[in-house]
Amino acid sequence: MHLVQHIPDGQTEAHQRKAIESVSLFRIRSRSGSILIVGASRGLGCAMAAEFLKRKWEVVGTVRGSARTDLHDLADEHQGQVEVECLDITDPDQIAALRSRLSGRSFDILFVNAGTGNKNRHESLAEVSTEEFVRVMVTNALGPMRVVEALQTLVPAKGLIGVMSSGQGSIANNEKGRNDVYRGTKAALNMYMRSYAARHAGDRRALLLMAPGWIRTELGGPDAPFGIEETVPDIVNVVMSKRGRPGLEFLDRMGKTVPW
Ligand SMILES: NC(=O)c1ccc[n+]([C@@H]2O[C@H](COP(=O)([O-])OP(=O)(O)OC[C@H]3O[C@@H](n4cnc5c(N)ncnc54)[C@H](OP(=O)(O)O)[C@@H]3O)[C@@H](O)[C@H]2O)c1
Repeated sequence: MHLVQHIPDGQTEAHQRKAIESVSLFRIRSRSGSILIVGASRGLGCAMAAEFLKRKWEVVGTVRGSARTDLHDLADEHQGQVEVECLDITDPDQIAALRSRLSGRSFDILFVNAGTGNKNRHESLAEVSTEEFVRVMVTNALGPMRVVEALQTLVPAKGLIGVMSSGQGSIANNEKGRNDVYRGTKAALNMYMRSYAARHAGDRRALLLMAPGWIRTELGGPDAPFGIEETVPDIVNVVMSKRGRPGLEFLDRMGKTVPW
């Protein structure tokens, strides 16, 4: 059984009481730490959830919609250690509703992993439709920042707020062009995180933009040189080692600084 804190409309009070008891149990069992991973249904987000579970962390992961996902399977394998929450980061009402459901909770790490690419990667800026450009930009830049802004108070002073960026978001390293739509959204994300960090200059929380490398997932595609199993432990190592280091860093999965 996985713990689902979100109580859909129409459920009875008994259901609600049971869900609240489950959440209390979840908290009592809390061990190494707790992480909220936004966008954990599959790919890198779900693999990060699995890696944190291996390290005895409690995980709350979000998925979109009501369909069963890899995260639900993971929750079944790790009973009492995974909560599945619901969030589409492009919907401000859903972000507000999640914030309200998580009221009173605290997470050592908030990690916003959710992201997307344009459907036709070969489409240049000259070719992409406005609608598709807006979809990718809202998902990769505006959505993650809205989540960070809305959920930041759930992370204590010693905590970490991380966002999944990409090496393709580096302006300095862009010498080849290509994949412009995606690149631009991750560069925008980096800029917005820098603004966020500047506005929170006295904040003791660690802020991280992660460039995980090119990895075989649905988004990365089959030609990527690295697999999930060989890369996600490194990604999690970098997240862990960034804890306790206030301020924003843009790091690759080996912990090396990526030029802005
Ligand atoms: N793989 C790579 O080579 C690579 C390289 C650099 C950076 N990244 C970044 O790493 C992150 C994860 O990518 P991935 O490779 O694991 O891709 P993926 O397998 O396609 O997974 C994407 C994840 O983001 C979620 N997501 C997408 N749009 C969302 C939305 N509007 N609201 C909530 N969740 C949403 C997806 O949920 P659904 O299941 O509901 O669609 C899924 O969990 C992304 O930010 C990506 O840009 C990946």
